[in-house]
Amino acid sequence: MTNSDRNGELWKRTDYCGELRAKDVGRRVVLAGWVQRVRDIGSLAFVDLRDRSGLVQLVVRSDRSELLEKVKKLRGEFVIQACGPVNKREPEAVNPGLPTGEVEVEIEGLAILNQAETTPFVISDPPQASEELRLKYRYLDLRRPSMQRNVILRHRAALLTRNFLSGRGFLEIETPFLTKSTPEGARDYLVPSRIHHGKFYALPQSPQLFKQILMVAGFDRYFQIVRCFRDEDLRADRQPEFTQIDIEMSFIHRETLFEMIEELMVEFFALGGYRASRPFPKLSYEEAMNRYGSDKPDLRDEIAIEDLSEIGSASGSELLAGIIQKGGVLKGLLVKDGGSFSRSRLDKLQEEARALGAGGLVWIKKAEGTLKSSLRLDQDKLQAIWRALRAEDSDLGLLVAAERATAVRVLGELRKNFILEKIRDGRLDKSRLAFCWVTDFPLFEWSEEEQKIVSMHHPFTSPHPADLELLESDPFRVKALAYDLVLNGYEVGGGSIRIHQPEIQARVFKVLGLTAEQAREKFGFFLEALTYGAPPHGGIALGFDRLVMLLCGEESIREVIPFPKTTSALCLMTGSPSPVDSRQLEELGLTTKKPK
Ligand code: AMO
Repeated sequence: MTNSDRNGELWKRTDYCGELRAKDVGRRVVLAGWVQRVRDIGSLAFVDLRDRSGLVQLVVRSDRSELLEKVKKLRGEFVIQACGPVNKREPEAVNPGLPTGEVEVEIEGLAILNQAETTPFVISDPPQASEELRLKYRYLDLRRPSMQRNVILRHRAALLTRNFLSGRGFLEIETPFLTKSTPEGARDYLVPSRIHHGKFYALPQSPQLFKQILMVAGFDRYFQIVRCFRDEDLRADRQPEFTQIDIEMSFIHRETLFEMIEELMVEFFALGGYRASRPFPKLSYEEAMNRYGSDKPDLRDEIAIEDLSEIGSASGSELLAGIIQKGGVLKGLLVKDGGSFSRSRLDKLQEEARALGAGGLVWIKKAEGTLKSSLRLDQDKLQAIWRALRAEDSDLGLLVAAERATAVRVLGELRKNFILEKIRDGRLDKSRLAFCWVTDFPLFEWSEEEQKIVSMHHPFTSPHPADLELLESDPFRVKALAYDLVLNGYEVGGGSIRIHQPEIQARVFKVLGLTAEQAREKFGFFLEALTYGAPPHGGIALGFDRLVMLLCGEESIREVIPFPKTTSALCLMTGSPSPVDSRQLEELGLTTKKPK
């Protein structure tokens, strides 16, 4: 091999840059990658070469003037290949912060494979650019070591999941993307048909109906790592297209599913060095709401909301007694070591509570041995509250008197923020995984937006057999055989035992306000399938992006999706969505209104 510039001709790569160690000293290697940095110190030059595995330092000796000249031409992000021996670095030159820091590769041959313009931001961690710029030049952003790590970890997590499920007899079966609407509570993305004008496919919000039909078809253990599409308001943990680990089983016992998913989660998070302990605790929906004010409670902190209604009624406060008499409650939350909160911090909490819908927020703390409160109450009443909260001298008590749902929601939200604060400032262990199952959800809820009764999960969820008789007479009291998997305050999975008898499915559709004809039109194929020997079945879908986000220690799923959309559903790199030409619209039989 010569050191001439063999443009276009690739040498056979022997190693990844980031994998070289002291044991490789003496080997001749051929590396390829991107120039991170060039340091020219006159007679000697160093090049940091990067590929997906990491960085290694290349060095050109002072007597190789031809090579030194060539290195001087290198700029950041040039693509090069280099060959030469791996040498041990002098002790004073060892870089303990770099996995390859004990070695360097002496360049004997070098070829520039491609040049690069000056990049809009420096390729290094932490990111040096706004998220907008990062997403526009995603291919550059993805070159950052942390993004490479995330994408690689995502691959390993998908592979582990496939092997885990396949090893337990699950078959990976694909289901269509061009299909009919499957309701999961969001709007559908529609695809117009060119051949059948006026008709549309819907991209699946989940493969729910297909996986159930696969059970009818006899494939009693199904899974798929599958893209789902939902047109809904986006947040840090929501994307319009996202990936589920979708699972369905026939003849299933809920506990069997729980055990298997727990085992999968333990192995999944071990990839990131986390240890999750089993069995995961189970909470009913009611318990979760009452104790934590959330159906996805963050159990990294055990502090719970306490009911203080009895003390409130007898407190002598007209305000509290009045609210409780009208069916409201008094709920309290302990804030450990919150006694030192400043007046302005307490005022801010008041504002937050009001913004969340509370009429106000009462605080209690101890100063010079006596309890002080923002609401005038006798010492013995304050003492009773203090005791009920199990508070100590340095703590703070926060109380909300309101309708039950409001009181727990407000304190639940404050509780969540306190936990995040504790994690941020190191008072809670960041590497802790707190899983739980939330079970026994109501089957239905009232949708303020649509002004009608809707399914809390989806309409194929089985009612609790004991509540079947309430289905028509008192639907809001019917519990569902549904469960969510929650991790550190995120809903990372949801599933249920399904309805497998067509009569019950028809009754549920009726409660949801669908006439028999509408039900036939929307789900006739499915109702019919249930009549041909549908086995009892159930399953779950895990939010793969959310799980990978937590595995990678990220706070947004956009950090673990190679090409995500913004929170306004735009792809800044490709510029989608974008207008189409009029011929395409014509072929589809569509006209569009001018945007307002
Ligand atoms: P569900 O709607 O609860 O259930 O979805 C399952 C899991 O998918 C994740 N998820 C999302 N992740 C990112 N962006 C989104 N927009 C998004 N929406 C949901 C969540 C959620 O827990 N068919 C049922 C499952 C079943 O019953 O088996 C379903 O889709 O982590």
